[in-house]
Order: sequence, then C-alpha cells, then structure tokens
Amino acid sequence: MQLDGLLQGETSWISNLANTSALLWMYLPDINWVGFYIRKEDELVLGPFQGKPACTRIPIGKGVCGTAAETMESQLVMDVHEFPGHIACDTESNSEVVIPIVRNGKLIAVLDVDSPEKARFTKGDVEGLEKVVEIILRHQTTG
Ligand code: SME
Repeated sequence: MQLDGLLQGETSWISNLANTSALLWMYLPDINWVGFYIRKEDELVLGPFQGKPACTRIPIGKGVCGTAAETMESQLVMDVHEFPGHIACDTESNSEVVIPIVRNGKLIAVLDVDSPEKARFTKGDVEGLEKVVEIILRHQTTG
C-alpha cells in the first residue's frame, strides 16, 4: 500500500525504480543491497539501487540476475556460493533473491535483493517482492 501511494501519479520508470529501491531499503531488515538491472539487448545494465557500488553489466544467462532474466522465473538462493556462475559484486553477500520484471511477455528488468545472512529470504519474501514488481508495472506506462 505504501509503495502504491509512493508511485501514485508518476509514470517515469527511472523515478519509480529509484523510489522503490529506497522504500525496500528502509523496510527490509538484514539486507546489504537492493536494486534493479535494466535490460539493454543481451545484457542487464545497473539501474537505481541502494547499497554499495555494484557490477554495471551482467550478460543474460549469467549469475543469479542473468538466470532470472533468461528463465523469467524468480530465483531464491539460500547460499550464493553454491550457485553456479554467481557474480560476487560484494563479497559480504551470502543469500539473494531476484525477481524478473516482464511486460508484454518481454523481460525488461530484474529486481535484485542481497543479504549478508545465509538463507535470509523465504518463499514469502519472493511472493511479496513479486507483488512489488506488479505494483511497479501497474504504474509504469512510459519510459
Ligand atoms: N550477485 C548477482 C550480481 C548482482 S549484485 O549482487 C548486486 C548475480 O549473481 O547475478
């Protein structure tokens, strides 16, 4: 509800991603990074985020983000060190969740959340973050 209110009346994609990352950063405990990668051709390019500076480009299919982008399925990773091809932007990260953002059947971005704790995220978190993505998509009509 708070996110819906925050995005009310604003259709700018970048502004809405920026405010969404700030809201999640305020309310999700035990995380060290939250943000978006935006699809540009066959790569994911760093978008609005909160946390330490991160890798700027991730090929589709690589790492947790690239896997979410390729499969268009949410990725819940209890221990990133066991995920084949995991991209370690911050060595403090131990668990991660990535939600694909799909519009008209096309992958347009991913939402990535990292935690320094192992197994920080649950299926309930995935469902909640998928709702966050639905709200973003509902408010976004232009670039
Ligand atoms: N660990 C991610 C890369 C992005 S950073 O965590 C911000 C991955 O494997 O896709």
